Amino acid sequence: MIKAFLFDLDGVIVDTAIYHYQAWRQMANGLGFDISEEFNEKLKGVSRMDSLDIILAHGAVELSEEEKLSLASQKNENYLNLVSKMSPDDILPGVTDFFTQVKKENIKTALGSVSKNARLILERIGMLDNFDSIIDGTKIAKGKPDPEVFLKGAKELGVSPSECLVFEDAVAGVEAAKKGGMKTVGLGKKEVLVEADIVFENLVGVDIHELLQAIK
Ligand code: BG6
Ligand code: MG
Repeated sequence: MIKAFLFDLDGVIVDTAIYHYQAWRQMANGLGFDISEEFNEKLKGVSRMDSLDIILAHGAVELSEEEKLSLASQKNENYLNLVSKMSPDDILPGVTDFFTQVKKENIKTALGSVSKNARLILERIGMLDNFDSIIDGTKIAKGKPDPEVFLKGAKELGVSPSECLVFEDAVAGVEAAKKGGMKTVGLGKKEVLVEADIVFENLVGVDIHELLQAIK
């Protein structure tokens, strides 16, 4: 029986995925190559330094640790600039209504994001109080597809992995949840999120009772 919902942040609650992409693209362009939207799917849910390594390998660029840290921090500054104007208006369609249902049904909630900026974003969009537990990039050693972020969330909520349902927009996130023994709701394209137990374009009109019935 599902007792808890674990939500990814970027691309599930709020559309920051586009800003991560823009900031990485700007960095790649500065290094003399481009990254496509299709390539960007590989970066979703992946930690900042792992994303950087994937991008540099794609552009066949080799850098020292020091140079990498400096690029990652520049990318983060650009990203923070892009998200600085975010407000509750940026919450993705269907999310607010879905959380109203979650509250009514007394389902426990955790955030499971590898972003070190997760709390800041939640504050900006006024959703910090919607989660019983927040596991973010500052609390984990391994990013997705490692299941650590979700297993920690389950532990903090006092539920077992099989009692959790994870909401994810990233291939790496779906993989992390599966490795942790959890069922997943994919949000995005069916062709991309092939491993998810069920996929919706977004949370608009998703009814909790119907959803729980469907993933049984
Ligand atoms: C994930 C995003 O939520 O957070 C990734 O999907 C991002 O694209 C990762 O790289 C780390 O985020 P941050 O904010 O710590 O750089
Ligand atoms: Mg995501």
